[in-house]
Amino acid sequence: MKFHEPRNLALLNAGIISGVYAFLFFLTILLIDPHSFSHPGTFLALFISLLLLFSISYFIFRFTLERFIYSKIRLIYKSIHLVKAGKKEKATQMMDSHMIEHVQEEVAQWETEKVKEIEQLKQLELYRRDFIGNVSHELKTPLFNIQGYVETLLDGGLEDPTINREYLKRTDKSIDRLIKIVEDLDEISLLESGQIKLKPAYFDVVSLTREVVESMEMKAQKHNIRITLKDPGKPIFVSADKEKIRQVLTNIIDNSIRYGKKEGGNTKITFFDMGENILTEITDSGIGIETEDIPRVFERFYRTGQGRAATKKGKGLGLAIVKHIIEAHEQTINIRSTIGVGTTFGFTLKKQ
Ligand SMILES: Nc1ncnc2c1ncn2[C@@H]1O[C@H](COP(=O)(O)OP(=O)(O)O)[C@@H](O)[C@H]1O
Ligand SMILES: [Mg+2]
Repeated sequence: MKFHEPRNLALLNAGIISGVYAFLFFLTILLIDPHSFSHPGTFLALFISLLLLFSISYFIFRFTLERFIYSKIRLIYKSIHLVKAGKKEKATQMMDSHMIEHVQEEVAQWETEKVKEIEQLKQLELYRRDFIGNVSHELKTPLFNIQGYVETLLDGGLEDPTINREYLKRTDKSIDRLIKIVEDLDEISLLESGQIKLKPAYFDVVSLTREVVESMEMKAQKHNIRITLKDPGKPIFVSADKEKIRQVLTNIIDNSIRYGKKEGGNTKITFFDMGENILTEITDSGIGIETEDIPRVFERFYRTGQGRAATKKGKGLGLAIVKHIIEAHEQTINIRSTIGVGTTFGFTLKKQ
């Protein structure tokens, strides 16, 4: 029994009053006229008066309690409903006898929602702060480099033929890096806000992959990596944004080279028919990713410890873009990896 409900409180109070009344009744009779206990009329009188007293006090208690509580709660209830816009019709149920329970449920539900919202906002705020910190950190490195080169050139380096061209070249490289970061960030924010409209087309994903592999062959050779494309022997037509998928393939293959083993390795690309979709898998024999890092490599700016150790050059934006592109196609991307053994990235595309 819940004693915080007016109905039950009224019952309890009426019960106590009736009990006290019955006790006093017996006591009075005992003191004044003990013989009347043998008279059945005495008990009938007690029973009727108890019943009357119980019912009257129950109703009076319940009525006053409810009036009091309702008048207090109505205000709270109204304001909750004002906040929860769109659910105003429930306010009409305010006067029914289950109002307290309604209010309790609503307040509890409201509280859970608010706690969740606050948690999400805190998370977003943390993410935003991290993001700004990361952006400025990433921009700082090339900017400081440029500053250093320009200062050296101004301090007489310009006239020194052994360094002037070299320093200008380095400045140019740092500027390229700055531009690339800004372009990537721009792309991420457009993808995140859903402002990038995909340009779906039908194309052969096998020949697109071949093009990408060819364009990266030089870089692969430099890193001692052999790329093999398991040719399915026939074109596989998919429906997707060709240039975006080129970007996805370039990023993943680039990672397989960048995070490949120094002493040489291989990258294999395989296609699997999944019925409605085609699964493209890129498997490398590189440094691998720790299990706890796997879900995080798609975060903006996230780089694994091994990744950082392998190369200073990464920014941790490539896979964030890749994931956004695949999700914009309503497709999926997944990773399997064993540290020291290698990594497989697989993503699906809709077959024509
Ligand atoms: N094939 C891979 N093998 C091992 N680690 C990888 C691989 N691909 C990605 N990573 C890890 O995930 C991180 C994020 O990758 P990415 O978003 O492409 O950024 P970047 O390559 O610029 O560092 C990398 O820094 C690296 O730590
Ligand atoms: Mg990358």
